[in-house]
Amino acid sequence: MKSDFLEILHERKSVRQYSDQKVTEEQLETLVRAGMAAPSAVNRQPWFFFAINDRVLLDELGNRLPYAKMLLQAPAAIVVCGNMERALDAWQQEFWIQDCSAATQNILLAAGSMGLGSVWTAVYPATDRIEIVRKVLILPSHLIPLNVLPIGYPDGPQRAKDKWKPENMMWNKWQ
Ligand SMILES: Cc1cc2nc3c(=O)[nH]c(=O)nc-3n(C[C@H](O)[C@H](O)[C@H](O)COP(=O)(O)O)c2cc1C
Repeated sequence: MKSDFLEILHERKSVRQYSDQKVTEEQLETLVRAGMAAPSAVNRQPWFFFAINDRVLLDELGNRLPYAKMLLQAPAAIVVCGNMERALDAWQQEFWIQDCSAATQNILLAAGSMGLGSVWTAVYPATDRIEIVRKVLILPSHLIPLNVLPIGYPDGPQRAKDKWKPENMMWNKWQ
């Protein structure tokens, strides 16, 4: 378990290759707990998480989702969904995307701190991908899948990218 938070944050990278080592249910619950610790608009917590360790489901998702083939190798995955029964009304409804994105980043960082690797594979707003996840997980209509996060022990050359670009920042107002 790593403890220097900024080091964990800067070492985070998309991990798309995994070893055969299993991920336990306890580890998956730890990751979901990290997701649920995220901030959300008006504290609505408009999310729902599927922790998947069933090989048949992982393979079905991997075979059908075009940009998530790494699921075929991953020992587990978490699917982050927006829960429309908990989402705010009218123009505020779309805050669910930001809330669930914050939860997702928490999970990715927690995975790194546990020596695990993951990658955000997009589902929402691609309607075809939403339908695939809906069918495979038999989702009720109030849940909208935002992404699928394969989880496993990293096996491969992935390295964190240095994205610090001073030109993407300004002190105080535009000048
Ligand atoms: C909204 C979003 C959607 C993404 N979708 C995919 C995807 O479908 N498949 C994939 O392999 N990576 C996906 N990624 C991962 C990005 O490719 C990755 O974060 C980016 O290349 C930067 O690399 P890093 O995560 O290693 O820093 C997605 C990331 C985000 C934030």
